[in-house]
Amino acid sequence: MAYLSIFPLCLFFLLISPSIAQTTSFRPRALVLPLTKDSATGQYITQLSQRTPLVAIRLTVDLGGQFLWVDCDRNYISSSYRPARCRSAVCNLANSKACGQCNGSPRPGCNNNTCGLFPYNPFIRTATSGELAQDVVSLQSTDGSNPGSIVSAPRVAFTCGPTFLLEGLAKGVVGMAGLGRGPIGLPSQLASAFSFPRKFAICLGSKGVIFFGESRYNFLPGKDVSKSLIYTPLFINPVSTAGSFFQGEKSVEYFIGVKSIEVNGKPVAINSTLLKIFDKDGNGGTKISTVNPYTVMERSIYKAFTSAFAKAFSGVPRVAQVAPFEVCFNSSKLGSTRVGPPAPTIDFVLQSQSVFWRIFGANSMVQVKEDVLCLGFVDGGLNPRTSIVIGLHQIVDNLLQFDLARSRLGFSSTLLFHQTTCSNFNFTSKA
Ligand SMILES: *[C@@H]1O[C@H](CO)[C@@H](O)[C@H](O)[C@H]1NC(C)=O
Ligand SMILES: *[C@@H]1O[C@H](CO)[C@@H](O)[C@H](O)[C@H]1NC(C)=O
Ligand SMILES: *[C@@H]1O[C@H](CO)[C@@H](O)[C@H](O)[C@H]1NC(C)=O
Ligand SMILES: *[C@@H]1O[C@H](CO)[C@@H](O)[C@H](O)[C@H]1NC(C)=O
Repeated sequence: MAYLSIFPLCLFFLLISPSIAQTTSFRPRALVLPLTKDSATGQYITQLSQRTPLVAIRLTVDLGGQFLWVDCDRNYISSSYRPARCRSAVCNLANSKACGQCNGSPRPGCNNNTCGLFPYNPFIRTATSGELAQDVVSLQSTDGSNPGSIVSAPRVAFTCGPTFLLEGLAKGVVGMAGLGRGPIGLPSQLASAFSFPRKFAICLGSKGVIFFGESRYNFLPGKDVSKSLIYTPLFINPVSTAGSFFQGEKSVEYFIGVKSIEVNGKPVAINSTLLKIFDKDGNGGTKISTVNPYTVMERSIYKAFTSAFAKAFSGVPRVAQVAPFEVCFNSSKLGSTRVGPPAPTIDFVLQSQSVFWRIFGANSMVQVKEDVLCLGFVDGGLNPRTSIVIGLHQIVDNLLQFDLARSRLGFSSTLLFHQTTCSNFNFTSKA
């Protein structure tokens, strides 16, 4: 059986490469996807085209998601749908050892002798089994300033999910776009389909943008954010942190090495053991997530951090807490700055004392009522899986570049300093 792991892989590349050359007239260096924020759920939604004939589908973005999954039970019609046959190259690539049958008549999501994976909806913490398949995906190329021509990848692997797995997702959404670092995450698949670097960048604001591949990141009025990134290593958690996974799988989520936290430049006393990833069980460490609306901290870190912050901001009157936050202030006499309310700075100190991710008022404080401003971090309780989960409010209007090949994160800190925002990518195509 040893040949299985080598032979199908060769077959895979032979099949994939020539078909790419046929469907696209030029090879893009980068692609772009638009993002909108769903006001009811706070989720970021993207839109791309899939199937033959092409259908525009809306998907909730999951930075740490393992792969693309879509509801195949409703309205999935495509002449280019290919179920992944057991032990085929794509099953191998996806590390799918599950081989299944399906009762009923064949249709997308229900075929015999196919391998499967477990699509996961992190908002309702539910996973289920689904058929692995491939189909055409098409999206726009970019020069980093505007969208360009539309290009297609003929065989993007994804998993079929049932309709009930859409519960808790924004209205009109038919699945989730997983941007995790695994072999069938969208970044790796698009990189291999178009032979560009395994790299992507995400920028979330009232709207937003995802760039795949090698490009500038130009935001109106003409600010190229790619020139002002700070870099820090990405760490691989040896134990999967997904809702469902095969034994021995690594995490596809994005972990960074926060070594300490400072408020107004003063270190907060925390148990640094919690900031490390434990190789044995994959607990601990710091990851970035688009599932959590606010950064979640293990309880002892949360307590130490919030009290240090309250002390640093003691010139401003405290008011009663407003759930889910514990530390709130009367903001009626507070002014404002270009980077939000004039709050103490928060630094996530990284590989050395001189490399830190600085968080200003716009990303630390949440206006919960007209005159009440709360520290936008929440208590993760005792013994959470991951000690710090950096959430949406802390990454809004920050550009984050995930370079999988070099295993590093590039981050911009707030774009408000650059007098732009993540909503300012010019989605008008050049004439
Ligand atoms: C799978 O095989 C079983 C047994 O041969 C058959 O009853 C069933 O209809 C098949 N399912 C599909 C989707 O072809
Ligand atoms: C720090 O955290 C680790 C892991 O939870 C724990 O084993 C250790 O006892 C803690 N140390 C202190 C001083 O609280
Ligand atoms: C905030 O302070 C102002 C006076 O400075 C007061 O009128 C207002 O009621 C306070 N708001 C809260 C929520 O405490
Ligand atoms: C956006 O790009 C289009 C196409 O290049 C251009 O015509 C338009 O002026 C740009 N918009 C702004 C606000 O610069």
